Amino acid sequence: MKKVVCDTYDDLSLFAADIFTRQLKSKADSVFGLATGSTPIGLYDELVRRYNAGEIDFSNARSFNLDEYYPIDPGHPQSYRSFMEKHLFSRVNFSSTRVLDGEASNPHAECAAYDAEVEAAGGIDLQLLGLGVNGHIAFIEPDTSYPLASYLVELAGDTLKANSRFFTEDEKQPTSALSAGLSTIFSSKHIMMLVTGANKAEVIKKMFEGVVYTDIPASLLHLHPNVTVVVDKAANGE
Ligand code: GLP
Repeated sequence: MKKVVCDTYDDLSLFAADIFTRQLKSKADSVFGLATGSTPIGLYDELVRRYNAGEIDFSNARSFNLDEYYPIDPGHPQSYRSFMEKHLFSRVNFSSTRVLDGEASNPHAECAAYDAEVEAAGGIDLQLLGLGVNGHIAFIEPDTSYPLASYLVELAGDTLKANSRFFTEDEKQPTSALSAGLSTIFSSKHIMMLVTGANKAEVIKKMFEGVVYTDIPASLLHLHPNVTVVVDKAANGE
């Protein structure tokens, strides 16, 4: 697991956009694994800028998102489908986008269908990840064991608290989610995690102690051969 330290959040976003650009240039029909949260917004804005400047083109590329609240109407302003439409999908030209369906009547069948679609696409070429304050990746919350397949997960208290900032008092915050499982994430050829801000410094420090902590899902990434963790100085504890 490699760590790249960028001076600022803007530098981190540009660095990540360069990795995306290189991926697209080397394989126009790349399969991207995408993430939500506030961290990738700078990256998405930069990708849109490059797309508008004619520097990159997603017309042959496909995307799969890591997770979605459950239950939630995909049209709800805080759904991850809405987030992706707003920040990226409506602004560039992906050939297809897939977000787990927060309204699926059978969440387990929906997860199985999602895993099968990722596999049929040949797996993810470049998987983008954020990091939860409690060390979660996607919505894989700290636990004593982890399902390999995508699954319906009950959100941890820390996560509910961290994400409550996005919901108004009238909007009911879902307490569960559908999340990609470890086998989908680990079958990605390259994983790039973006981490910004001092509130993530503690978990970043633990991730780089040379230990796999079973209660820090992100530390399991040590077991993947091609992971780049891009942090800004604040997240690096500087
Ligand atoms: C959510 C998402 C994660 C994301 C995390 C971090 O919980 N499910 O995929 O990595 O938020 O969010 P932020 O970037 O806002 O700190």
